[in-house]
Amino acid sequence: MLASLELDSARIVSLDDPSAATISDDRYCEMSKGSFVPVQGASKARDEVVAAKELYTSKVDAYVSFNRAFLSAKAYGAYFASDRDLRPGLRIMNAGCGTGDDTLALVRALTSRGLGYQRIDAFDLTPAMLARFQESLNALRIANVHVREANVLNLESLPDEWTNYDLIVSAAMLEYVPRDAFVTALRSLRSRLEPGGRFLLFITRRNLITAVLIEKLWKANRYSAEELRSALAAAGFSRIRFRKFPLTYFWQNTWAHVVEAFPS
Ligand SMILES: C[S@@+](CC[C@H](N)C(=O)[O-])C[C@H]1O[C@@H](n2cnc3c(N)ncnc32)[C@H](O)[C@@H]1O
Repeated sequence: MLASLELDSARIVSLDDPSAATISDDRYCEMSKGSFVPVQGASKARDEVVAAKELYTSKVDAYVSFNRAFLSAKAYGAYFASDRDLRPGLRIMNAGCGTGDDTLALVRALTSRGLGYQRIDAFDLTPAMLARFQESLNALRIANVHVREANVLNLESLPDEWTNYDLIVSAAMLEYVPRDAFVTALRSLRSRLEPGGRFLLFITRRNLITAVLIEKLWKANRYSAEELRSALAAAGFSRIRFRKFPLTYFWQNTWAHVVEAFPS
């Protein structure tokens, strides 16, 4: 990330925390051991990313149980089963795949509808979550799903061929990106879409229930529909559509905004 170090040397500090995740944009720079970051903003951002990684490292089992209790995998499955824009041979990315509930639901929907896929690339910040996902992929003998550790604020660390996607899905991850880096994260995901590609976002709503169940319990940010519209527009998305989980899983609509967005 040396390219991102166009900084006034008076305003940079060296970090000694090898566990720090990597963040890169105009203000957030390489944060692994021995590298440099701008003083303002970056340390708070680093703290938030490190906190998310620690949370999902220590709470993998709790997260799996939480998702099970709310039938999240089934709800994603029902959503994808009714998604009329899925078509054969898509190149797909999952941003923040965690233990893979959303990706596995998508694979099942594509397979059972006879659509298949060209490839699915999935990344996440937390190795403990990815390890669970990889176990499931192995157990289910699912091929052509590639899994990597990465921070959404440093997608340059991904393999060069991880681009030109027809569909990028991101579920319950972008609420962990520091608020002031949200547009940066959206923009960098958008840049990996093909022209005509689609971004499908599941993200925590602002309401009293999510204040307790998501913000307090799972330390996530929450967004209003207006905040999402303006962030997506600022990130270069033009057509933005709000969707819903099917009625059978109505409670998921209390948790999440489901948003489809298309690059300008
Ligand atoms: C609530 S889980 C969602 C997992 C999965 N998408 C699902 O719906 O079950 C949030 C995930 O976001 C990941 N995450 C948090 N911050 C991230 C970041 N900056 N970059 C990539 N992944 C991140 C966490 O490691 C965790 O696995």
